[in-house]
Amino acid sequence: MQARMLLLGCDGQVGWELQRTLACLGEVTSTSLCGRYGLALDLLDRDAVASAVRRHRPDFIINAAAHTAVDKAESEIELSARLNAEAPGLLGSLAAEQGATLIHYSTDFVFAGDADRPYQEEDAASPVSVYGQTKLEGEQRLLATGADTLIFRTSWVYGNHGHNFMNTMLRLFKERDCLRVVDDQIGAPTWSRMIAEVTAQVVNRLGFAPSDSAHLRGIYHLTAGGETSWCGFAQRILELSGEACRIDPILTRDYPTPARRPAYSVLDNTKLNKTFGIKLPDWKLSLAQCLADRLARMKYLG
Ligand SMILES: NC(=O)c1ccc[n+]([C@@H]2O[C@H](COP(=O)([O-])OP(=O)(O)OC[C@H]3O[C@@H](n4cnc5c(N)ncnc54)[C@H](OP(=O)(O)O)[C@@H]3O)[C@@H](O)[C@H]2O)c1
Repeated sequence: MQARMLLLGCDGQVGWELQRTLACLGEVTSTSLCGRYGLALDLLDRDAVASAVRRHRPDFIINAAAHTAVDKAESEIELSARLNAEAPGLLGSLAAEQGATLIHYSTDFVFAGDADRPYQEEDAASPVSVYGQTKLEGEQRLLATGADTLIFRTSWVYGNHGHNFMNTMLRLFKERDCLRVVDDQIGAPTWSRMIAEVTAQVVNRLGFAPSDSAHLRGIYHLTAGGETSWCGFAQRILELSGEACRIDPILTRDYPTPARRPAYSVLDNTKLNKTFGIKLPDWKLSLAQCLADRLARMKYLG
């Protein structure tokens, strides 16, 4: 298979990894907001996005761009809505027009967080933040276009490239003797590389059987196995990093933030497993691999 792929947001955590995992499947045109990596393309510039899609005539559009600053979104409501809700709708229309398959990402934050078992795709979404609300609207607008689209809802994304909880912890372990970390929000930390690996496997599968895109369209949960709290995640990062720091568990109410977050947002990945035969490993295993990769890079790159 030699697919033509248009990647948006190639400088983000997931987009960065996608550049590598998609590379062996065909011709990837990577774009980012600043244009430092790949071509410059602003997702808010509707004409530029439309002309990029029409010019490249991709078989797959992969949208890893989004407004992901959960707390900022509470005060940047319009920006969040344009990027997370309107832009997926535009991309969906363009994908439908061009007969392309659109891969898009969404979030565990579409759920309220009051469940007592992992959320399934068809469970009622009821976001408690602007970010969650706009991402949910993006899913709905995209599905309404009728495009062949797969929407992967993932959670608590981390990796060696980009801004994320793991990188913040690794920095703070060096700066502080003691940290207080929220222990009553439960989710599944998911390595950006794993999301990109799964995306490439799915693109590969659809590339060989394009007619499958239509009946496989819809939402899929795509997260690491297992679950933990932010405090449990921090503890594990500390153990694996070999740094010294005390971590004290605290309650959400002791760490007020502009955006509310779901108390429990573990996703059930059964549909992904049944449809594509893919199951991500436990979050602890991926975290160990990610940190091993980081150490190896530091050793060689200094
Ligand atoms: N991060 C998480 O914990 C998490 C959890 C669940 C789901 N997700 C979803 O997973 C997907 C990937 O997330 P991620 O963690 O990789 O996000 P990320 O690291 O924040 O990357 C998002 C990318 O979008 C780019 N972007 C922002 N505004 C843009 C614009 N106007 N035009 C083009 N690009 C623009 C950003 O560029 P700049 O950096 O230059 O602004 C950034 O490179 C998103 O759909 C997100 O909602 C993420």
